[in-house]
Amino acid sequence: MPAMTDTSMNTNMHSAFTREIGRLRDGLLKADLSDAKATSGLTRRYKFFSITLHQHHEGEDTLQWPVIRPKANPHEITVLDAMEAEHEALASVLGAVDEDFKTLSANSDKDQVAARLDELDTVLLGHTQHEEREGVAIVQKYFEEDDLKAFVKFSRNSQDASLVLPWVSDGATPAEVASTWAMIPAPVRLFVKPMLTRKYTRFTKECGV
Ligand SMILES: [Fe+2]
Ligand SMILES: [Fe+2]
Repeated sequence: MPAMTDTSMNTNMHSAFTREIGRLRDGLLKADLSDAKATSGLTRRYKFFSITLHQHHEGEDTLQWPVIRPKANPHEITVLDAMEAEHEALASVLGAVDEDFKTLSANSDKDQVAARLDELDTVLLGHTQHEEREGVAIVQKYFEEDDLKAFVKFSRNSQDASLVLPWVSDGATPAEVASTWAMIPAPVRLFVKPMLTRKYTRFTKECGV
């Protein structure tokens, strides 16, 4: 079975996570938190981001790193250990931001929530850059197309998974947009892409972010 060489969806998602933190931060700072509609829109958008990020890491932790570990050499094992430890560190920062958004109200301290989003941004970027620097080459070496199928299937079961492709494309480079939509076979993409894009545009409008 050939090893996987195209890991662009992983890196495209990393860029999308970073862009989304910026979007949520701007949306938070602009929002009038005494307006229930604005607050619930922001919370809904954050929830989508958090679920998608949790799902991304859970997929890597349960369906990617364990498949690779038995094949990896000692140096590669230390990288895999670092990936798992970084996911744990991220989960704890993410958990704190989850709490902030769950309890978002006129009483929330916007600057404090924004500072926590900044912290999440820093920790996430540290991890995704490390993963792209050292982890991706290991994935490309050992992860097989069949392993990827299981990973993709798991990702598609995520809540609001239908928003993921247009969301990853939002603000992405033309190359990122092309490789993101290439996840769907061309004949199906023809009608699915406009449908999902409309759904995402509606979601963005309803959230107000
Ligand atoms: Fe990743
Ligand atoms: Fe990761």
